[in-house]
Amino acid sequence: MSNTTFTMIKPDATSKGYTGAILDQIIKGGFTIKALKWTKLTTEQAGAFYVVHKERPFYGELVEFMSSGQIVAAILEKENAVADFRTLIGATNPAEAAEGTIRKQFASSIGENAVHGSDSDENAVIEGNFFFSALERF
Ligand code: CMP
Repeated sequence: MSNTTFTMIKPDATSKGYTGAILDQIIKGGFTIKALKWTKLTTEQAGAFYVVHKERPFYGELVEFMSSGQIVAAILEKENAVADFRTLIGATNPAEAAEGTIRKQFASSIGENAVHGSDSDENAVIEGNFFFSALERF
C-alpha cells in the first residue's frame, strides 16, 4: 500500500469551470496536494500517457479528447491513496458512479468523465513522473 496517487482534471471539467469545486472535494476528502500543474497535452503526449490503452477501440477518441483542452495534473498524498481516491471519484462510467462521488457530480459520459485516477501504486509512480520533476514536488 502506497500513500500517493496521481490525478488529472480532464478538459470537460476544466472547460465547465469545475476545477475549483473538484480540488475542494479532493482536499476535503483528506488528500494533500504534493504537486500541481495546469497545462494542455499535445496529441503525442496524450497518446504516450494512455499508451496502455493503445489497442482499445476508444484509444483515438481518448487521445483526441485529452488533448482538446486544458487539464490539471496533481500528485496526491493520503494513506491508501490509490484505493481511497478511486472511491472518491467513483466508477469510470458516471452512470454507474455512486451518489456524492466526483464523477457522479461532474462527469457526463464514460469518455468525458471529469477526472483520472491511477489504478495501481505502480501506475501512480509512472503517471506522476510523466508530469513532474523532483523539483516540482513538495
Ligand atoms: P481514465 O480513468 O482516465 O482511464 C482511461 C480512460 O479511458 C477512462 O478514464 C475513460 O475516460 C476512457 N474510457 C474507458 N472506456 C471507454 C469507452 N468505452 N469509451 C470511451 N472512453 C473510454
